[in-house]
Amino acid sequence: MILITGGAGFIGSNFVLDWLAASDEPIINLDKLTYAGNLHNLQQAQSAGSRYQFVKGDIADSTLVGQLLDANAIRAVVNFAAESHVDRSILGPEDFIQTNIVGTFRLLEAVRAHHKNLSSDAAKAFRFLHVSTDEVYGSLSKTDPAFTEDKRYEPNSPYSASKAASDHLVRAYHHTYGLPVLTTNCSNNYGPYHFPEKLIPLCILNALAGKALPIYGDGQQIRDWLYVKDHCSAIRRVLEKGALGEVYNIGGWNEKPNLDVVHTLCDILDELSPRTDGHSYRTQITFVTDRPGHDRRYAIDASKLERELGWKPAETFESGIRKTVRWYLDNTAWVDTVTSGAYREWVDKHYGHRS
Ligand code: NAD
Ligand code: TYD
Repeated sequence: MILITGGAGFIGSNFVLDWLAASDEPIINLDKLTYAGNLHNLQQAQSAGSRYQFVKGDIADSTLVGQLLDANAIRAVVNFAAESHVDRSILGPEDFIQTNIVGTFRLLEAVRAHHKNLSSDAAKAFRFLHVSTDEVYGSLSKTDPAFTEDKRYEPNSPYSASKAASDHLVRAYHHTYGLPVLTTNCSNNYGPYHFPEKLIPLCILNALAGKALPIYGDGQQIRDWLYVKDHCSAIRRVLEKGALGEVYNIGGWNEKPNLDVVHTLCDILDELSPRTDGHSYRTQITFVTDRPGHDRRYAIDASKLERELGWKPAETFESGIRKTVRWYLDNTAWVDTVTSGAYREWVDKHYGHRS
């Protein structure tokens, strides 16, 4: 049985659903259910019966984690749990330090204690996979080569700094205690169940609601986009075949300036769900004050993962973004569950003061 943390969030819930579809092995999902955790994401998991179990709790609760590991003979942990939004980390870094650094540390301690008590065969087979981000590597200029696994860490936001700290702890637990760890650093994800505080779902939902599509600064910042199901398949591959202590970058070679991404979203919406007045959704694009310390460009070199583990993404940006827009158009009930009180408060707080 495997334990995943943060499985009620965007990527974690996609991982749970894909895992249940691809494998007979049972999965336990430990999630604190912060604003970003949503059990509606996991409705389809209910049909898996006893193969899927949800536990509400904090990765920083070592006692709870220890009990879950021991009572269920867990053979692998995949750590998705984190505070994940850069803008929130700028307005309030404390939760990021608590969950991403202290939480990961406590989780590692519980896993270390569990690992020590395993039989030698079970200890050899055990894995701790830490899910991280390309943002730990810092910002690239237009002409810099894409991030390889050797790139120096240069995190620039409280979010990326806290993820960088967690990556270092995971590395240290391997070198110091021999914990069998794997780390993945992935580029920006998009797809179903993406919480609409992030660029792509925010713009889809704002467009349909007739609201502004807020572009920070000049909109020429570049992100490297990967369809979430491809991230999940890469994690499954690393879990199965990754070499202990190694780091694997995950990406799909899809660098796009933010403004191009939003233009693409508008064009797909113009085709699939045109405005009644005949105008393009592009007319809703609004340039707003830039994010402080905004990283200019991220780009992932994923050739190690392809060369050593034979992984490649299944979706291009064009196919994945079309599927994503379709998903938001088809899942209005889910959208209603996430655009409730707490979400509206955030939008008011964050965009209220921006010009
Ligand atoms: P998310 O914010 O959508 O979900 C995070 C989940 O973690 C939520 O369900 C939340 O309730 C849970 N959680 C938060 N604090 C917790 C705690 N202390 N204990 C237990 N659960 C807790 O995030 P996401 O976008 O799904 O990202 C998942 C992971 O992938 C994160 O570690 C993130 O850094 C990493 N990542 C994300 C992206 C991306 O584009 N979203 C890209 C690369 C890496
Ligand atoms: P985001 O989805 O928050 O992901 P990250 O900051 O982790 O890359 O933002 C993606 C890009 O879009 C980033 O360059 C910031 C920009 N952005 C906007 O221009 N407007 C917005 O309203 C948001 C949320 C993001």
